[in-house]
Amino acid sequence: MKKYVVLILSVGLSLGAIAKEGMWLPQLIAQLNYDEMQRMGLQISAEDIYSVNQSSLKDAIVHFNGGCTAELISNKGLLLTNHHCGYSQIQKHSSLEHNYLKDGFWAQTLAEEKPNPGLYAAIIDRLEDVSNQVLAGTNQSQVTEKRDSIINANIKGLLAKLKEENPALSYEVKDFFYGNQYILIAKKIFNDVRLVGAPPSSIGKYGADTDNWVWPRHTGDFSVFRVYANPDNQPANYSEENVPYQPAQHLKVNIAGVEEGDFTMVYGFPGSTQQYLPAAEVENIIEVYNPARIAVRDEILSILDAKMRVDEATRLRYASKYARISNSWKRWKGEILGIARTDAIAKLKEEEAAFKMASKSNPKLKGKESLVTELADLYKKRMPLSLERFHYIEVGYFGIESFRYALGFGALIAAAEEGDEAALTKAAEQAAKRYQSFMKDYEYQLDLQVAQAILPMYLDAVSTDLPDIIADLKGEDAEDRQEEIEDFFEDALFLHAGFEEKVLDNPKSMAKKIAKSELYQLSRAMYDHYFAVIAAGLSEYESAIKSKQAEYVAALPIAFPEKPFYPDANSTLRVAYGQVKGYEAKDAVEYNHQTYLSGVIEKYVPGDYEFDLPQKLIDLYESKDFGPYANEEGKMPVCFVATNHTTGGNSGSPVLNAKGELIGLNFDRAWDGVMSDMYFDKSICRNVMVDLRYVLFIIDKLGGAHYLVEEMDLVTTRPGQDEDSKEEGTQQNLPQAG
Ligand code: ARG
Ligand code: ASP
Repeated sequence: MKKYVVLILSVGLSLGAIAKEGMWLPQLIAQLNYDEMQRMGLQISAEDIYSVNQSSLKDAIVHFNGGCTAELISNKGLLLTNHHCGYSQIQKHSSLEHNYLKDGFWAQTLAEEKPNPGLYAAIIDRLEDVSNQVLAGTNQSQVTEKRDSIINANIKGLLAKLKEENPALSYEVKDFFYGNQYILIAKKIFNDVRLVGAPPSSIGKYGADTDNWVWPRHTGDFSVFRVYANPDNQPANYSEENVPYQPAQHLKVNIAGVEEGDFTMVYGFPGSTQQYLPAAEVENIIEVYNPARIAVRDEILSILDAKMRVDEATRLRYASKYARISNSWKRWKGEILGIARTDAIAKLKEEEAAFKMASKSNPKLKGKESLVTELADLYKKRMPLSLERFHYIEVGYFGIESFRYALGFGALIAAAEEGDEAALTKAAEQAAKRYQSFMKDYEYQLDLQVAQAILPMYLDAVSTDLPDIIADLKGEDAEDRQEEIEDFFEDALFLHAGFEEKVLDNPKSMAKKIAKSELYQLSRAMYDHYFAVIAAGLSEYESAIKSKQAEYVAALPIAFPEKPFYPDANSTLRVAYGQVKGYEAKDAVEYNHQTYLSGVIEKYVPGDYEFDLPQKLIDLYESKDFGPYANEEGKMPVCFVATNHTTGGNSGSPVLNAKGELIGLNFDRAWDGVMSDMYFDKSICRNVMVDLRYVLFIIDKLGGAHYLVEEMDLVTTRPGQDEDSKEEGTQQNLPQAG
């Protein structure tokens, strides 16, 4: 009876509450968001989420190697993140005999956990507004260079002072709102982070590129690590003496399940967004930049795909490259659709008109009337050069593999020119090593085909001050270009067998030959042209754009005092909040919020490289051996969606319930709303997470690593389900001993 009443109450609440978009600074939540979060169902205090005085949830949130998020889930430093975030570590420990990518891996004891040199985990100590210190001595009338140099000197001084006061922490100052605000980030960096476990890729990457960015989703995208510290519980480089880190706080794991309308929040490190661009630049992105980049990658992907489908060896070599190229390619396509479907450009233009009106009537906005027009103008003028930039990046830097690889011979050539014997020997050894690792996953014919398809796209796009080698090729007709490109490849010694011995035996003459080879020269010319002409030209716009954007974002809250304004993502710690919720994708197509193991089985294609499954998972499904992780109906949940505003970098972020307990592991966004980096629309923007029940089921039942589950603190009641559990909820957030 009691349960029933509570349920009605919470549904009533959730209907009234509007999920607010945004990626908020945790230290400002008490001030800006807490009331709304409470109305939406949050049951813990703002201090429980972030505090400088006591341990809080933030002590359990980890920046994983700078690019992903992870969270501590036991008092022994157990760390959870995505499979795609731990991928390269899992890959490094894999071999033909122990193929952890394919078969999964579970350390049976601490001693079996695998160290990962170079991998680090950062935990935030505190965040502090240092705008006054950083901006001291600056004013708006200064020229940009002057202002920037004062700011840089202030930051340098501040960091040096802090480092002296407490060298145990690392410090960083980040700029927010295009330089209107500066925040100091003090953090502890742990360099001993070991691999504990990972599911087979057929679970962790289930659906691979076909299902990437897609809802309904059935991927168990998780992997498990452990943070180690020295015997004093402080960060230390890898050592056998190190012991599992005891965090100030770790997350409890709630396996009672989620329901539509439940409050959720995502605590993590979103990478970068562009929420305050004028419509004109969004137009550039949607109509010019994205289509150009997509067109280049269309070519690359179709060439790779054709070969990968028929050749198993190619597939192995190129799977990871293909995934990398297709990830943004697919997102850009989704952005185009999402911006169109939400009519975002027209809406942005309406907002801009409203801003103009507001500036006319508000004395505080005097002189801001023409701001958007000026900004739009700058972006429009910059567009042709930006387009050249994207063409270089897509073609010369990321597209043609051998072009990027060729750039790495600079050191060898320089050493040969300088006649420095020791440096030359060293550079030759490096060149031999690079050759080996490059060739391991390289196919000459594929790269040549790619070059023939995409180099012309670059040539047709660039126009300014071209070096001869580029201009000559640009001037040729299509057929001659193709022949030339083929010749370039043929003459590039560093792409052919025997290079390794030759460069070691006779580094000097090899260096000369490389320097003379046209493939090297062309790649080098494109690279130099990029910096000397394209980037240099762009930099003339950058400071004007940045200062106008800064003015604009400072004026927006004055023009629209009732609207929420949050800084663009910049790889700093943020909190987003929303509700578990399905969505209407298009007319008559409505998506539920949750997927189940039955859906995993429905997608199963035996032997397929994206949709194969381990037999053991099928057996567990058939015998319904789900342990305590199934829902009340006996179904095994897999993924769910919610309205949280997230972006790249939020991968691996914990998704927390009303009590701050872990219910999901963020890993993606749903296709229809991936334009959220520029324009968030709460009707279709959804973050995608793995249900923690699926994570535990895979660890426990499929991986047989029950001892890991035993390390965790499991909660088996939903927030608000049981009055008594409130007590526990508060206790969880008291500082722990040790
Ligand atoms: N789309 C997700 C993100 O942007 C997942 C990427 C990894 N998975 C993949 N199939 N490429 O990072
Ligand atoms: N998959 C992304 C990541 O790796 C998350 C996203 O873009 O939503 O961070």
